[in-house]
Amino acid sequence: MTVLDHTITRVSVDEVTGYTSFKLGSFEFRRDEYFAHITWPKGSHIIEIDRFLRAMVRDIGWGFFYGWIFFDDVFGTTNHYGTVDVFAGSYDRGCKEAGIDFLETFSAQAVSEAFEAISRDWISNGYDPLNAPLETGTPIGPKGEERTDPLLRAFIAADRMLGLEGDKPVRSDETGHPVNRAFADLTFDTPDIVCEHGFEGQLHAINLFDHIARSDVTWNPSISAVTRANICCVTSEEHMLPVIHGNDRNEWFIQLSDEIHWQIADKNSGQPRGRIVMKAGDVCAMPADIRHQGFAPKRAMLMVLENGTPGLEARYASGELKPYPVDFG
Ligand code: PHB
Ligand code: FE
Repeated sequence: MTVLDHTITRVSVDEVTGYTSFKLGSFEFRRDEYFAHITWPKGSHIIEIDRFLRAMVRDIGWGFFYGWIFFDDVFGTTNHYGTVDVFAGSYDRGCKEAGIDFLETFSAQAVSEAFEAISRDWISNGYDPLNAPLETGTPIGPKGEERTDPLLRAFIAADRMLGLEGDKPVRSDETGHPVNRAFADLTFDTPDIVCEHGFEGQLHAINLFDHIARSDVTWNPSISAVTRANICCVTSEEHMLPVIHGNDRNEWFIQLSDEIHWQIADKNSGQPRGRIVMKAGDVCAMPADIRHQGFAPKRAMLMVLENGTPGLEARYASGELKPYPVDFG
């Protein structure tokens, strides 16, 4: 495998729209008022610009996530934890049969810098691709004023366990994180805490619903607990997951409120494999050999559990581990 350490280059600036076009390896990226255009030696592709930018900022922010991130059925990235494939049509049966599929492998840093340069140039003030569509402006049209705030939400780390002495109120009315409009009807009881004598100040509990209800972003899991390689994330979801995620390991979902519809397809061909409607309280495991995309008609709370054990992807890919976690036999 050849790993390209190319850096992104600026090709030209469009005189009418003001947007820059870029080249990364053999891929070229250009945008106009409505669309992103991607070309490679054997083909080209077009993606609606909102969809493209919502996928791209998440792909950067998640460090390319686990396995495959499809921006749509054709274009995306695969994380090899250190290197990243950028592909077009490589997991689409039609593109493969037509012989126009293409894939190049880069260092993760090169792709990250490239995607950041593209996003910076193509996102203007008033539009935040991490917000729900009803809560932000539109990316359509010519280049506007540059955004000066961080493109990707800075990672806000708690100083201590949430709510314990010394913790700053990470999400509260005081820090400008009001309860989202969709959760205005919820009441947030605080837990009763009964502590053994001698452990005062070391034990605390919060209402996690209150915490998630104050998230101003969607489809952007934040880590809420880590035990060794077990990563527990919570997230608030509205509209559609702007990527299709292809797993390289199992991943568990616990639906905390409302409902999310998932479309599940074979990872390699895109052939449909199922649809799931998860309602509050439902639990499901996404197998290691599928791709999936979620749709939330109303803002919903979701808990995502990931197994971050290094090398797990190779054990699933070789068939050593079954693609699903439980045998109901
Ligand atoms: C997923 O691909 O599993 C995923 C990504 C982002 C979310 C939720 C789930 O917010
Ligand atoms: Fe996933």
